[in-house]
Amino acid sequence: MSDQERERLLAEMDALIARYVASRIANEATTDRVPLSSVAYDAREPQAALRTILSNWISQGPKVREFEAAFAAYVGTRHGVAVNSGSSANLLALASAIEMGDLAPGDEVIVPATTFATVASPVIQVGCVPVYADVDPLTYNLDAGACDAAVGPRTRWIMAVHTLGYPADIPAIARVAERRGLKILEDCCEAHGAAIGDRKVGSFGTLATHSFFVAHNMTTGEGGMVLTNDDRYAKVNRSLREFGRLDQAAIDEGRFYTDDKLVDYDKRYIFERIGYNVRMTDVTASFGVEQLRKLDAMNAKRIANAAFYTRELARFASYVRPAKVPAGLTHTYYTYPLTVVPGSGVKRGELVRHLERDGIETRPIFAGCLPDQPGFRNQPGRVAGDLPNARMLRDNAFFIGVHPALTERQLGRVIESFGRFFGSR
Ligand SMILES: Cc1ncc(COP(=O)(O)O)c(C=O)c1O
Repeated sequence: MSDQERERLLAEMDALIARYVASRIANEATTDRVPLSSVAYDAREPQAALRTILSNWISQGPKVREFEAAFAAYVGTRHGVAVNSGSSANLLALASAIEMGDLAPGDEVIVPATTFATVASPVIQVGCVPVYADVDPLTYNLDAGACDAAVGPRTRWIMAVHTLGYPADIPAIARVAERRGLKILEDCCEAHGAAIGDRKVGSFGTLATHSFFVAHNMTTGEGGMVLTNDDRYAKVNRSLREFGRLDQAAIDEGRFYTDDKLVDYDKRYIFERIGYNVRMTDVTASFGVEQLRKLDAMNAKRIANAAFYTRELARFASYVRPAKVPAGLTHTYYTYPLTVVPGSGVKRGELVRHLERDGIETRPIFAGCLPDQPGFRNQPGRVAGDLPNARMLRDNAFFIGVHPALTERQLGRVIESFGRFFGSR
């Protein structure tokens, strides 16, 4: 069969997929439920993924490189190293800091107390100690003052998490880092496209990480990426993600390796360090390339949905505090957080149960206060101060869905449900 004929078959396949997806979407049962997330893709992603499968290259290859280049360019960094999850990205980033001599086992890494488990667990997994610092009660982000106060003699890094898409106060955190001689790892797993001024989060730190898990602003099903402007960090991360072997770019400079023990040895099997296998596949990356094209439009919808909630929920401000974003920041709303005002007489448990009964899905702000979680209580870690804000959020905060697939009717149902709950007060 000629190339031309195969191309024709691919075009037919694309058309069939487009018909199938259009029919699936048209027949999707309309729901009054308001889920936290929804699978947001059309025909383009399965068409791209299937083309990759048919191309006979399904492990890490050219599509991963294309996705890395496109995503790094979008964020504004020189390098992207794709991996199989955001958790792996954090693990790799920290392991690379050790390889680079910028972190050693027993050193400390400051993390926000209110965050997801695999912000702190990779710190422990590489033999270091997470230091839990308090967060700002309005932004849910690491508080720069608390971060400063948390620095100890062995502190080397700050993990600044852009919580739920709200950019962390990087200028203030960078001043702390500068004064204290620390490096910054930005965890952008919840913050694709978020920005401070016209600069995207992920472009400020020595390292940054993203997650492409299915519920996030853009997805590859499972996936993640380490971003950096530092060529040496990029090289080490590439090596760590695949067994610790020699950066395969070195093969372009000649296939064989020689030192005092190995002579003319194939560079594919030269292992420079102790590594992992956390690679992304080309099938996954093809999905990511298509999702990235849609990211800004999907984020615009999230931002509009959030503006609607903020406007409508303002009338219940004595009971629940909605998100507030100062000018100059682009918050991309992975979800929409709310905090029950302490002392207002409202209990989060009652409100959340009411919303869930109405089909509105809710969650607390991840771990609430991470060192209070059962798995973390007896692990290495230092709690900086009493964490009053993190513990207040642990007890009073929650989030609801704000994703682009929500209809006007669903958004309206959310406000009606809050109205019924507070109307009786
Ligand atoms: C802040 C943060 N970091 C890391 C992760 C881990 O990402 P993944 O689920 O892709 O492993 C998450 C998960 O959503 C997260 O919220």
